Amino acid sequence: MSTNTGTRTHCFTTCSSPARGNAAPLGTGTGGWDRHRRRGRGGGTHPCWGWCLLPRAPRTARSCRRLRGGGVSGARGTTVRPPPPPRALPPRSAELRPSPRLTESGLSMVDWHLVKGMKPPRTQREWEAEFRKYQQFPEFKILNRDMTLAEFKFIWYMEYSHRMWGRLVGLAYIVPAAYFWRKGWLSRPMKGCVLALCGLVCFQGLLGWYMVKSGLEEKPDSYDIPRVSQYRLAAHLGSALVLYSASLWTGLSLLLPQHKLPETHQLLRLRRFAHGTTALIFLTALSGAFVAGLDAGLVYNSFPKMGERWIPDDLLAFSPVLKNIFENPTTVQFDHRVLGIASVSAITALYLFSRKVPLPRRARIAVTSLLAVACLQVGLGISTLLLYVPTPLAATHQSGSLALLSTALWLLSELRRAPK
Ligand code: HEM
Repeated sequence: MSTNTGTRTHCFTTCSSPARGNAAPLGTGTGGWDRHRRRGRGGGTHPCWGWCLLPRAPRTARSCRRLRGGGVSGARGTTVRPPPPPRALPPRSAELRPSPRLTESGLSMVDWHLVKGMKPPRTQREWEAEFRKYQQFPEFKILNRDMTLAEFKFIWYMEYSHRMWGRLVGLAYIVPAAYFWRKGWLSRPMKGCVLALCGLVCFQGLLGWYMVKSGLEEKPDSYDIPRVSQYRLAAHLGSALVLYSASLWTGLSLLLPQHKLPETHQLLRLRRFAHGTTALIFLTALSGAFVAGLDAGLVYNSFPKMGERWIPDDLLAFSPVLKNIFENPTTVQFDHRVLGIASVSAITALYLFSRKVPLPRRARIAVTSLLAVACLQVGLGISTLLLYVPTPLAATHQSGSLALLSTALWLLSELRRAPK
């Protein structure tokens, strides 16, 4: 299954457009990476213009991806369709999109105030002032120089709705918690739980702003397009997953009646196996944040091989070697594939093992659902890769990881030990 045969479909992180057909293929070692970055610098404000076939006009990474989706096949150097006129993010493409990162709108609001930040600009003058603030930052200077005020309003509102949604989620935790606490409806352990959850919600908000700040910093020595740090993105996603998992677990523990399972040796092994598999799913999802943060889904768009190889030769291109795991897009994509396949294999093994253990009906449904969601999630991941990360598919894959984690937690809750 493969959509291209080239060594590497795309330039490294700096550009999400196809590598030039007649240029030496990238990804053939450190040389490709260095050469790419040097040329990019010489090519203009877009760090990749030395290589890519796109017009010398600012565009966002994702609008580049759209062009690719439209049939550009740079890796083979064959048909190259002339791209449509460049636009930053056309308002006409305003489908409902869940993630600021996926819509490239996350850096449109350049400051953060808990209360003041709730009031959007109202008059033309306020909007112009807000736009002028955005123009001081690298995303505008490097990527969106031709952005109009109308286009800015669109990405601004996308980010604004994400931040307002965050505030609403915070209130949905804090207000009922305060009310239940006052009424004396919370047991002592539940008070601890509620405090921890509310603390995590606040931490999530702060981490979000800390992440955004990394995308606003000027990096004069960097040739990359402005983006948030992949480390902070992973921390933000990781903490969101922890908050989500803790909330779901608390809810399931309260709502699902527990089974009185006989504590056999087999059940103990199954429970341990299920815990390990859930941890693996969590790690896979976290590694997905690095793929997303580095746009590493665009370096090799073939499956199961990466280009023509099972193990790409630029896997350890960075030095020191450890740096590759978090900063080399090839390695990051490779790791995510391996972890994804390992997760689905572990889930299949868990399913097969669970058939040997006498389980109540609900636990059986949970383990079967886990296998089904895992297959769907891997299918979505592979499709996202082969189709060059179209936004709706990438967003569905992102949601799929939550569905998978939720099903795994449900299974754990079905298998949990009954209190003595
Ligand atoms: C258990 C299996 C998997 C899980 C839980 C998982 C989870 C994730 C998560 C959480 C992200 C980050 C999404 C975002 O923040 O936008 C991601 C990204 C991605 N995953 Fe997976 N994934 C799995 C398997 C796979 C597989 C097998 C492939 C392909 C071979 C794949 C390809 C991708 C790609 C291309 C992206 C980047 C999408 C983007 O740039 O928005 N995934 N994955």
